[in-house]
Amino acid sequence: MASPRLFKFLLAPLALSSMALAAIPNAMLRGRPSLPNVPAPAGPFMDRNGTTLPPIDTVYYFDQLIDHNNPGLGTFQQRYWTTWEFYEAGGPIILMTPGETDADGYESYLTNETVNGLIAQQQSGATIIVEHRFFGLSNPYDNLTSQSLELLNIQQAIDDLVYFAQNVDLPMPGGDQVKPDQAPWVLIGGSYSGALTSWTMVNKPGIFWAAYASSGVVEAITDYYGYFTPIREYMPQNCSADVEAVIAYLDQSYANNDTAAIDSLKSAFGLSGLSHIDDFASALQDNLFDWQSLQPDVGPGAMFFQFCDALEVDNGISANASGWGLDHTITAWGSFWNTTYYAYVCGSVDAEECLGTYNTTSSYYTSTAVNNANRSWFWMVCNQVGYYQVGPPEGQPAIVSRIIQPIYEERQCVNMFPQAFSTPPTPTVEQTDTDYEGWNVEVDRLFFANGLRDPWREATVSADGLNKPSTDTQPIYEGDGFHCSDLITENGVVDDTIAKVQTAGLSYMKTWLSQWKAPTS
Ligand SMILES: *[C@@H]1O[C@H](CO)[C@@H](O)[C@H](O)[C@H]1NC(C)=O
Ligand SMILES: *[C@@H]1O[C@H](CO)[C@@H](O)[C@H](O)[C@H]1NC(C)=O
Ligand SMILES: *[C@@H]1O[C@H](CO)[C@@H](O)[C@H](O)[C@H]1NC(C)=O
Ligand SMILES: *[C@@H]1O[C@H](CO)[C@@H](O)[C@H](O)[C@H]1NC(C)=O
Ligand SMILES: *[C@@H]1O[C@H](CO)[C@@H](O)[C@H](O)[C@H]1NC(C)=O
Ligand SMILES: *[C@@H]1O[C@H](CO)[C@@H](O)[C@H](O)[C@H]1NC(C)=O
Ligand SMILES: *[C@@H]1O[C@H](CO)[C@@H](O)[C@H](O)[C@H]1NC(C)=O
Ligand SMILES: *[C@@H]1O[C@H](CO)[C@@H](O)[C@H](O)[C@H]1NC(C)=O
Ligand SMILES: *[C@@H]1O[C@H](CO)[C@@H](O)[C@H](O)[C@H]1NC(C)=O
Repeated sequence: MASPRLFKFLLAPLALSSMALAAIPNAMLRGRPSLPNVPAPAGPFMDRNGTTLPPIDTVYYFDQLIDHNNPGLGTFQQRYWTTWEFYEAGGPIILMTPGETDADGYESYLTNETVNGLIAQQQSGATIIVEHRFFGLSNPYDNLTSQSLELLNIQQAIDDLVYFAQNVDLPMPGGDQVKPDQAPWVLIGGSYSGALTSWTMVNKPGIFWAAYASSGVVEAITDYYGYFTPIREYMPQNCSADVEAVIAYLDQSYANNDTAAIDSLKSAFGLSGLSHIDDFASALQDNLFDWQSLQPDVGPGAMFFQFCDALEVDNGISANASGWGLDHTITAWGSFWNTTYYAYVCGSVDAEECLGTYNTTSSYYTSTAVNNANRSWFWMVCNQVGYYQVGPPEGQPAIVSRIIQPIYEERQCVNMFPQAFSTPPTPTVEQTDTDYEGWNVEVDRLFFANGLRDPWREATVSADGLNKPSTDTQPIYEGDGFHCSDLITENGVVDDTIAKVQTAGLSYMKTWLSQWKAPTS
């Protein structure tokens, strides 16, 4: 990928002040629980009558309420995309928000490249992607100040989905007569939007007849060190052993106040320019965040594997499961940063600007321009969901430094939203998990799909030790995949365990949709 930190140098100076894509210091944002994407087929698509459809990247607009608690404030234009390739009268309406991202480009989620389209194809349904409020170009107000962001919270997002379903007139033939009391609606989501799917079913029963939540991070957790558990368990063992050795050395040096050792460690990575030890510890996490972009069909060239190869393969010889040990790894990991990784992450931006988090006047914190998913998502993180990807408690193996604790992120909440927070805020995860039932969710016709190697698994209903029962009304399936792997059709082609999840999801949809009855009101 081209480093976003480079945009600064690619944009004209005038655009710079408003776009403000300077440093991207926040490691947590690199591990945002976002939806994977695949390219949509080129089209053109035809409906079942053989009529050519509008291009699938056609943008439609819905008049969404600015504030569901105060409809008098009026509406804003919420973007959506839809297609009726497989639709036949009486079929379901399949709705997804891609969640905390600019929704433009997610058109594959209208097609049978994804589970959404497979369900539509099987059930003669229509598909819709709706952009989440405060992301992309769907903004109640034209800035992302703390004042405007007061209207960004889970409840408003749920209410958006409900109000959309109850009021939208779709552009397809008969599209003004498919409200939830006239046709079955299916809600789908992945990652945060998978959680939102579960939370919507809990909070607003009776609107969406059935739902599919992939890698849904239903339980909001502040101290989310569990992010690194599946990574540590499923990455090459020699690589995790060596990463653990370096992290233990860093943490020991820090505990001993051994500044000489820390300085020489930073220098090995070419990161002497980072003045704060926690920013250095955070930079080392970046190699692990690359795990999140893995899918079953990615090859050995993926950045995460390049990283482990750099640590473990020496002159064509691979270390055994114990790894090469501390000294070798400091040199190898440091050299990987020097030769490859620094440029990949920072381009030619200096270390403090790229990886530091202490410059409160940095435009990364101060820019309030819209279409900045990092800022909008960070607002939700600081307020309601946390998911801080930190070092584990003492006594557990650590591939991430214990120097990184929730305060590392909470401090940045103040940097980014000084009007809202004067001291580091603790996110209200207990309230979130009470209001929307987190792991305790028990609703009808909600299908959960998770992946064994997903770093977000520990916040899903497939978390280790939770042992939540899978039932016929609320089935829980787990494949060997990564984050939201089951949403992508191709992943089922290359991995049997994911195919089984997809087949089960489709089969439950068939059963549940055959049971649909228009509500009597
Ligand atoms: C397909 O044709 C039938 C019969 O003319 C019509 O009722 C229906 O609305 C058409 N469907 C679409 C999606 O255009
Ligand atoms: C997906 O839909 C296309 C038409 O858009 C169709 O040609 C193709 O056969 C479908 N794929 C599967 C796996 O059904
Ligand atoms: C941000 O938007 C709000 C709501 O429209 C407006 O009241 C406020 O003046 C704007 N602030 C800035 C800094 O643009
Ligand atoms: C660490 O060492 C430095 C320099 O010797 C000293 O100023 C500082 O107070 C020490 N910090 C702790 C926590 O011991
Ligand atoms: C790995 O190799 C080292 C050095 O040869 C050896 O001491 C160690 O026992 C080996 N570990 C394993 C798990 O085979
Ligand atoms: C050692 O690391 C290499 C490179 O990442 C990997 O291919 C290999 O499977 C690992 N071997 C063991 C025993 O962990
Ligand atoms: C990395 O680069 C720094 C200078 O930027 C250098 O001091 C250090 O020796 C290099 N480390 C390795 C392992 O190449
Ligand atoms: C902090 O960021 C501002 C704005 O980008 C910049 O002008 C300033 O030099 C930075 N300060 C430091 C200490 O890097
Ligand atoms: C947000 O952060 C991600 C990951 O660091 C980056 O790819 C993206 O360009 C950033 N976007 C903005 C608007 O800062």
